Amino acid sequence: MAATREPDPGRVSVLLETEQRAFAARHPRSRQAFETGQRHYLYGAPSHWMRRWAGGFPLTAASAQGAHLECIDGHTYVDFCLGDTGAMCGHGPEAVTAAVSAQLARGATLMLPTADAEWVGAELARRFGLPYWGFTTSASDANRAAIRIARMLTGRDKVLVFSGCYHGSVEEAHVALQDGRVVMRNGIHPNAVDHARVSRVVEFNDVAALEAALAERDVACVLAEPLMTNYGMIMPQPGFHAALRELTRRAGTLLVIDETHTLSNGPGGYTALHGLEPDLFVVGKAIGGGIPVGLYGASEEVAQRLWALVPKVNPVAVRQSSHLGFGGTLAGSALQVAAVRAVLEQVLTAPAFERMIARAADLAQRSRALIARHGLPWHVEQSGARVETLFAAAPPRNAADVARGRDAALEALLHVYFMNRGVLITPFHSMLLMCPATAAADVDAYVAVLEQFCAELRPAAARSARA
Ligand SMILES: Cc1ncc(COP(=O)(O)O)c(C=O)c1O
Repeated sequence: MAATREPDPGRVSVLLETEQRAFAARHPRSRQAFETGQRHYLYGAPSHWMRRWAGGFPLTAASAQGAHLECIDGHTYVDFCLGDTGAMCGHGPEAVTAAVSAQLARGATLMLPTADAEWVGAELARRFGLPYWGFTTSASDANRAAIRIARMLTGRDKVLVFSGCYHGSVEEAHVALQDGRVVMRNGIHPNAVDHARVSRVVEFNDVAALEAALAERDVACVLAEPLMTNYGMIMPQPGFHAALRELTRRAGTLLVIDETHTLSNGPGGYTALHGLEPDLFVVGKAIGGGIPVGLYGASEEVAQRLWALVPKVNPVAVRQSSHLGFGGTLAGSALQVAAVRAVLEQVLTAPAFERMIARAADLAQRSRALIARHGLPWHVEQSGARVETLFAAAPPRNAADVARGRDAALEALLHVYFMNRGVLITPFHSMLLMCPATAAADVDAYVAVLEQFCAELRPAAARSARA
């Protein structure tokens, strides 16, 4: 392989400034909207996450359809962010729009099941392999439900997570390892939680550390993504999942697999694709096609143990039975169930995943070829319909590897450079996600901008050699 070299940091910083200026000039109305937003929103927009776009302010969206989005300044974008996976069905998927509109007119939330529930329950079991399910209104909430069940069943307090993880607003998971010490991830406030008591954290792919951390038999559950998607993209090493399953079983610890992002691997997520055997399973975001839905699934054994503690059927005479402490008023609403049915039956189908994954493979393969041709030491990872660009030559094995390879200025430049040329990349990662509507022309558009980006940044020696 030809020798590669990092881009010159001076050049990165000059380009970043130029691109941010261009972004501000191209989007006067979005900029104004964000300034006005400061008056009534704590962080300028309805969600604090929206301020994280590298242009310095978020675009204000005018409309979005399929894999495309238009902002109020009249620019159009190929959207590979897709609402950070929430819109993996594509924007405005017809089947979801029709099902949800019809259900809205018939009653959105009733504290009663509807006829769709039977189909949805059976399909969830068929796809993901866990027989029993419950709804929540977010993946964060589904993770909290899974943790609560794990604690109820094991009588233990601790939750083990992998450094660099993100599982939503789940207190136990807000921790990371830094130089061998457990710290709050991103300086998050501990929120009166004693993390030393309730959390344990090890590096992903570190089987020895995992074994040691479980050995005291005080961990209720391991909460893990099957591959890590929230801190670069970290793939499991061969044998890691087998070890994780065997060690958790041996320690009497439940295994919770969170497929909120990795559902993009196929109709049954990474779990079905690789035959994982979680005790509890979580999915969210895309599964509702834009309607807020989280789902937790339980194995037969978990369900039996739970019913032994809290009986399955509420005896008529005992109206004040345990409410279990999770779910919520709108969890399992008629609207949610209708949306999930439309997604599973008509949108995120096996043929749709085939197309999405083929697009992602094409994008990844062409990106790798381009990066290599320009002599840049970057790495492109693909998992299902998801692609991640990492500014390090070698694939990371854990969060420490990612941290070592990070270049904040280069990451910001990537995002703003692409936005200025009509391509949206997820702001919290350098993640590109395909939806069923992502077309070959959308991938071409990305590759054309990447070509320019690499040409701007390729090492000076390579530039003059080719001049
Ligand atoms: C793996 C994973 N789990 C859970 C969540 C939480 O999802 P939500 O914010 O919809 O609750 C996220 C959010 O990014 C996630 O990446």
